[in-house]
Amino acid sequence: MDSILVKGGGALNGEIPIAGAKNACLTLMPATLLTEEPLTLTNAPRLSDIATMTQLLQSLGSEVAGLQGGKVLAMSSYRIGNHTADYDIVRKMRASILVLGPMLARDGHAVVSLPGGCAIGARPVDLHLKALEAMGADLDLRDGYVHAKAPGGRLKGAVVEFPFVSVGATENALLAATLAKGTTVLKNAAREPEIVDLAQCLRRMGAQIEGEGTATITIQGVDRLGGATHPVVTDRIELGTYMLAPAICGGEVECLGGRMSLVASFAEKLDAAGVSVTETERGLKVARKNGRVKAVDVTTEPFPGFPTDLQAQMMALLCTADGVSVLEEKIFENRFMHAPELIRMGAKIDVHGGHATVTGVEKLRGAPVMATDLRASVSLILAGLAAEGETVVSRVYHLDRGYEHVEEKLGACGAKIERIKG
Ligand code: EPZ
Repeated sequence: MDSILVKGGGALNGEIPIAGAKNACLTLMPATLLTEEPLTLTNAPRLSDIATMTQLLQSLGSEVAGLQGGKVLAMSSYRIGNHTADYDIVRKMRASILVLGPMLARDGHAVVSLPGGCAIGARPVDLHLKALEAMGADLDLRDGYVHAKAPGGRLKGAVVEFPFVSVGATENALLAATLAKGTTVLKNAAREPEIVDLAQCLRRMGAQIEGEGTATITIQGVDRLGGATHPVVTDRIELGTYMLAPAICGGEVECLGGRMSLVASFAEKLDAAGVSVTETERGLKVARKNGRVKAVDVTTEPFPGFPTDLQAQMMALLCTADGVSVLEEKIFENRFMHAPELIRMGAKIDVHGGHATVTGVEKLRGAPVMATDLRASVSLILAGLAAEGETVVSRVYHLDRGYEHVEEKLGACGAKIERIKG
C-alpha cells in the first residue's frame, strides 16, 4: 500500500490547477442511463471513484470510454443490459446508489444493493427511497438489495418534501423525475453547486427543470432525453483544500479555475483567520504573509454553509492558530477521526460529541499517521506540510479516491512531498 512522505517547513508559492468535481461527476455519470444517445462529460477528474462508477455503469451495459487521459468521459447506454447493481461494486462507493433513480425512470425496474455504513457515519439512504416511493415506485428491501418497480413501467410526478437536506437524495430524485409522467416538486432540496451542475446537464439532454440552486426544484417530466456534451463544474472541495496550503504554510498560491461563489462561506472563515483571498481572472489567489493565523469557530452546514468536506482540512489549519477554535460537525456523526492523528503530530484537540475544541500550538511535529477517509487523509498532508520534520501518511488509497496528482500539484509550489510505493 502506498504512503505519502511530507517534509514540512517551507512556504508555498505558485499556481495549482483545480480539477472537475468528483462529486459532480459521480452524479452526472449515472445520467447516461436516462438516454440511448451518447453523453459526454469534459473536465472529468482522474480518480479511483470515477473508475469505480465506470465499472458500475459498464456492469449495467453502458459503454464508458476515458479519452484524453481520462479528462473526457464518452458514455453511451443504448440499452440497459443488466438492471442489477451488485453489492461488490456498491460497497466500494456509496454514490453507486445514484443509478437507482435513472434505471427505474427509464425502464421501470431496477435492483440496487444497499450501500451499508461507512467510516464517517451510518449514512442511510431512506430519503432516496422515500422520494422514489412518492413517485409511485414499489420498493422491496430483501437480501441487502432494493428491488424497485414502477407500476405501469413509469414513475409519476409527485411533491417530495425532504425532512432535511440530502445531496444524494436530491440527485436521485432529480434524475428520476426527468422521465416521470407529470410534474415533480422537490422541496427542501440541496442547493450544492453539484446539484446545479446536474440540472444544467440534464437540461442539455432535454429535461425541463427550474429552480436548481434554490430549495425548491420543479421538474416537468418528458418522454425521452437525448445526448449532450457537458463540462463538469470545478471541484470546490479540491479548491478549498489547496486554498488551505498557503494558509497553513505561508506564501501565495493561485488556484486556477476557482471561483468565490463556490467557496464563499469557507473564504469568509479564511478571511476571519487572517488569510487573504482574492478573485483574479484565472481563479482565486490565497496568501498568508504575516504571522500565525487567528482562531475561528466553524460549523458545517449544507451549501451555502461551511462544507463538511472541508472540516478536516480546516482543522489542520486551526491546529497552529493563535487561540482556541471550536469546530461543530452537523452533517456526519463520526467525522473527527483525523483528530487523534493530528494529536499524534502535537495538536491539542478535545473532541466531545459533535464538537472539537482546538487549542492552537506554535508548531506541529512530523509523525507517522494513518488516513481514515478521503478528507482526513488530505488534512494530514496539509498538517505535515506545516510541521517540523517528516510525516508519513499511510493508507493513501483514500486520497486517490478524490485528489488527482496531489504530489505534483503541491510539489510545483515548492512542497517537499513524495509517494512511497508499497
Ligand atoms: C454527498 O454525500 C457527498 N458525496 C459527500 O462527500 C458530502 O460529504 C455530503 O454530500 C454532504 O455534503 C457525494 O456527492 C458522492 P447527504 P451524500 O445525503 O449525498 C443523512 C466526500 O468526502 N442521510 O447530503 O451521501 C446522512 O447520513 C464525501 O467527497 C440520511 O439520513 O450526503 C448525512 O448525515 C463524503 N438519509 C446527511 O443526511 C438519507 O437517505 C447528509 O447526507 C440520505 C442522507
